[in-house]
Amino acid sequence: MIRYEIYKLIHYTGLFLILSSLGGIAMHMINGGARDTFLARRWAGALHGVGMFMALLGGFGMYARAYSGMPLATWVWIKVFIWLVLGAAPFALYRIRGASRALFLAIVALAVAAAATALHKPFSDDFGATEDTQGLSPAANDVSNDISIDDDSSEAAAPDSSTPGSSPQSDDPNLPPPEPAD
Ligand code: HEM
Repeated sequence: MIRYEIYKLIHYTGLFLILSSLGGIAMHMINGGARDTFLARRWAGALHGVGMFMALLGGFGMYARAYSGMPLATWVWIKVFIWLVLGAAPFALYRIRGASRALFLAIVALAVAAAATALHKPFSDDFGATEDTQGLSPAANDVSNDISIDDDSSEAAAPDSSTPGSSPQSDDPNLPPPEPAD
């Protein structure tokens, strides 16, 4: 079974392919080019298509691992919509000449919106990730973030804390250095 972080890497690889291929098409059009004069058109189209597939596979793979058995949340539908728009972006870039700069900036803005949607999950019930992500999804990490570094009850009970210089807390970068002995 593919793990959550592998799906995330697949998701990111797809996104990089989508955005870099769209960037290439956009720069060609900004440079005064046309669809038929773009010698790398097939290459860019292939990378865009593979990227679309990988982004979809990684996205739904992560969702299945982190939220198994749960219905698709609103934030996922928002991302699917953005994914569809990015899928149609090459056609818009080739057809709407004279707006290539604006389209390029809109593509970047959409990508940022998709990333922000994944991070903040708007319009959704705040259900947490299921445990099989092994704490790798942001939702699962929220649980561990609730643990305060001031809560030192477990470390204080450690057996070798009486030995000078070997306090179990001394290696923790979140804690202040020990007081010097007089
Ligand atoms: C079919 C479309 C998509 C689906 C189903 C999808 C699904 C997901 C899922 C499930 C996560 C993990 C969220 C979590 O574990 O809490 C995620 C993360 C992410 N997605 Fe997507 N996504 C899609 C499209 C996109 C697009 C188009 C972009 C940007 C261009 C994008 C950018 C990101 C980023 C940056 C993250 C990482 C956020 C983080 O956990 O730090 N996604 N996506």
